[in-house]
Amino acid sequence: MRIKAFLFPMAIAATLFSCKNEPAKAEEETTKKEMVVKDVHTNAVPEKAVVTHLNWDAKVDFDAKKISATATWDIKTSEGANEIIFDTYGLKIQNVAVDGQPAEYKLGSFNEHLGKALTINLTEGAKQVSITYETGDSARALQWLDAEQTAGKKLPFMFTQSQAILARTWVPTQDSPGIRFTYDAKVEVPSSMIALMSAENPKERNESGVYTFKMPQPIPSYLLALAVGDVQFEAISNRTGVYAEASLLDTSAYEFADLETMVLAAEGLYGPYAWGQYDIIVLPPSFPFGGMENPRLTFATPTILAGDRSLVALVAHELAHSWSGNLVTNATWDDFWLNEGFTVYFEHRIMEVVYGKEYSEMLASLTRAELFEAAESMMEETPNDTKLKLELAGRNPDDGVTSIPYNKGYFFLRLIEEEVGREKFDAFLKNYFEENKFKVMTTEQFIEYLKANLLSEDQYKNLKLNQWIYETGIPDNIPTVESDRFAKVDSARNNFMANGSLPAKEVTAEWSTHEWLHFINTLPAEITKEQLSKLDKAYGFTKSGNSEVSAAWFQPTIKAGYTAVYPKVESFLTSVGRRKFLTPTYKALIDSGKKDMALNIYKKARPNYHAVSRETLDKLLGYEHS
Ligand code: BES
Ligand code: ZN
Repeated sequence: MRIKAFLFPMAIAATLFSCKNEPAKAEEETTKKEMVVKDVHTNAVPEKAVVTHLNWDAKVDFDAKKISATATWDIKTSEGANEIIFDTYGLKIQNVAVDGQPAEYKLGSFNEHLGKALTINLTEGAKQVSITYETGDSARALQWLDAEQTAGKKLPFMFTQSQAILARTWVPTQDSPGIRFTYDAKVEVPSSMIALMSAENPKERNESGVYTFKMPQPIPSYLLALAVGDVQFEAISNRTGVYAEASLLDTSAYEFADLETMVLAAEGLYGPYAWGQYDIIVLPPSFPFGGMENPRLTFATPTILAGDRSLVALVAHELAHSWSGNLVTNATWDDFWLNEGFTVYFEHRIMEVVYGKEYSEMLASLTRAELFEAAESMMEETPNDTKLKLELAGRNPDDGVTSIPYNKGYFFLRLIEEEVGREKFDAFLKNYFEENKFKVMTTEQFIEYLKANLLSEDQYKNLKLNQWIYETGIPDNIPTVESDRFAKVDSARNNFMANGSLPAKEVTAEWSTHEWLHFINTLPAEITKEQLSKLDKAYGFTKSGNSEVSAAWFQPTIKAGYTAVYPKVESFLTSVGRRKFLTPTYKALIDSGKKDMALNIYKKARPNYHAVSRETLDKLLGYEHS
């Protein structure tokens, strides 16, 4: 499918991208910009008619595994607009009203990525449209879990994952990151459960099972989120806390004890936290991501509960999105690096403040290694996805979710920091968030902003900015990372490989998860089963309870045919749904000639995976589902 990138005049761009709270300022600033490129992943035509507020009245039905709801949208129309277009995917539309009167509507033809456009006829000056609907079987954002898939094993669970374009599978919406709205909601759930959204949340269960929500700051629809389950709340500070199933609540509160310190660190860097409360919900292990930055309530995988707080960089990451992404939002999914690259940069800076530079440089070093590996592996088949500015027209934006926007984005920003100095860069970033909050940003607008507010001509040249953003691979001026702690790991590994001598216990006793990860990740390809077995006996990698260590350990062991790891691989793949771990593990099995084993495990595990993970793995394994 060829998609036209269509341009529209400035006044219209201002309507689309103006902040609800500051229309005058936004308009003035938008007029400085020449044009804005349309988001090709929505059917909406916001310059004609755009949503501003959602009132969502919903019932969550666990028996039928569906949501029945009425979405009432406040809208803003341009002169003469006679229709408004929403995105839908698999929704069963039952009734549509405009300003309280029954209205005519039509559903367009189905596109595998975009779903169907819902076009509603508008009367002159219409202010509100109501859509009554049910979710369909193909509601890919939703995962309905049976009781056995939860920690408590007594009650079912349901959660959503809307990013990138799955909000339309559970709410008829203008599903573009450039379209923001405020919302309130009333959600009815079984009275034994609690409902939580990306909004002001209840802290306790109530007897009626009816919960009300309010999100007073405007958000794009990829940040709409709902979780329903048997979870409880524990406060960490007066504005942070954690929701988890009862059996995980204390563990979770222990793991996230530094939450308030992290928020303070983030605020100290780039300005006040804009969303009021900051909580985390620990979801069941089938959650397909590490974390999702739903405003006020980060959704997180339980695989970060390592017991020693060693994986909390993920929390710093999702928290950082409260600025990069949630306040200043990528205009289209082609600009995804503006969300993720900035967030990885910000994440590393939070980690540096809270845990020290030595620690954060270990993380940066792992990031750098991951970047080189990813870029190399993509150069043959998907070289264009190694550009920072992506080209996702006609594709599922999920295809662009590789580690490139994250890690290449990080190193590009780190390069700018090194070029202009940290003090200047920090002042620049703080202003960037302040001036652009509740707005969207394209890559090109960011470049203009950089030129106007930070870089001299010489500095601009030194960066090789065009190469970083518009070309494939990794430019040669990528910053280097020195980690003394990793240098020690390097010599221990070299020693072991050269003469089989294991690093001394006194040395490894000091090692954190990150040193171990570096150790495992840098084992040479020619390592033998015997050598792996020796390491395993000494350090117990196969029985590690740390998910990152397990996933890393699976790589060299599967490749070397170290069969002692297979039972663990199987139990891991059948109990965890986090795509970042699943993909490389299945891939290692395939690459080492164990495709049958991979498929056998996959057949068992697949029903427990979220649709997002299933789609990736179906492709990887060539799995045909009925
Ligand atoms: N926003 C992303 C997750 C995402 C991206 C979901 C694109 C769907 C489409 C989230 O902030 C994220 O990056 N999660 C990472 C965390 C990590 C980089 C610390 C993850 O899930 O692994
Ligand atoms: Zn992220």
